[in-house]
Amino acid sequence: MTNLAVDLPGLRLKNPIMPASGCFGFGREYSDFYDLGKLGAVIMKAATGSERFGNNTPRVAETASGMLNAIGLQNPGVDKIIESEVDFLSNYDMPIIANVAGSTIGEYEKVAAAFNQTKHVHALELNISCPNVKEGGIQFGTDPNMAANVTKMVKQASNLPVYVKLSPNVSDIVAMAKAVEAAGADGLSMINTLSGMKIDPSSKRPLLANKTGGLSGPAIKPIAIRMVYEVKQQVSIPIIGMGGVTNAEDVLEFLLAGASAVAVGTANFQNPFICPELIDELPKILTKYGFLSVQDAIGKGAILYE
Ligand SMILES: Cc1cc2nc3c(=O)[nH]c(=O)nc-3n(C[C@H](O)[C@H](O)[C@H](O)COP(=O)(O)O)c2cc1C
Repeated sequence: MTNLAVDLPGLRLKNPIMPASGCFGFGREYSDFYDLGKLGAVIMKAATGSERFGNNTPRVAETASGMLNAIGLQNPGVDKIIESEVDFLSNYDMPIIANVAGSTIGEYEKVAAAFNQTKHVHALELNISCPNVKEGGIQFGTDPNMAANVTKMVKQASNLPVYVKLSPNVSDIVAMAKAVEAAGADGLSMINTLSGMKIDPSSKRPLLANKTGGLSGPAIKPIAIRMVYEVKQQVSIPIIGMGGVTNAEDVLEFLLAGASAVAVGTANFQNPFICPELIDELPKILTKYGFLSVQDAIGKGAILYE
């Protein structure tokens, strides 16, 4: 039998598949479709210090090659998330990863400290890379020193393992990865969406009220694979890979590039059963390509740079 289990800092995964932040809410809607305990883990929607209403609508648009979104971190605030959503998710047998966002380092610290007080959150995913919020987000995600600084402060504010979620909207992703690793990150999560835009010829206006948004879906997979591959050569902390996964071969591709687990985002909107389907398909695909376990495949596509 193919072994799907993977151990990562703070996370014992029964399989490497988890829904990506913001594409699964807090799981309630999906829990009507299947047992969330089947998932390797769940990454919750971003939490900020207090409630955020997000950007004006329209904030989602389809393109010929993926989806654009500029939700703007809408969420009920960390306290409410802990009170109702973490409590709800803790009924299922899987680790919970909390996605932490903020406009200032102090806000990141506050959110991280609050999750640290709960007994059901197993790790933090530090969202330094949201391209759609005016203050904070983008600067943290594109400047190695600021990314390192927020990582260090969050590590001090909490005992939970911290997976820093990197933005692809940079010219040197390896420099970002190395900076947060040096600052104490326990793992990386990559990639977030790529900055994009769509203009409607009839109205002659951008389709999103925010004008620009984050592109996700299959169009970004080759970029994500390249970035995971490059970063894997240069850091020793594990990577949760994501960007455009729609089938089990995509999952294997991320593992081969060096990811230890894989998150699925946009595909959940097209097919709410995508995560359990991938979990069921993965053993067949691993066997087809000669692997006995997930662990066996991690990084096997990565040849060291000379
Ligand atoms: C509608 C939407 C909302 C998102 N919200 C968040 C979020 O709150 N925090 C975050 O770190 N990433 C967020 N993301 C990014 C995803 O977690 C993921 O990194 C990205 O979409 C790439 O994966 P995919 O191509 O499988 O969707 C969001 C993506 C979408 C499409």
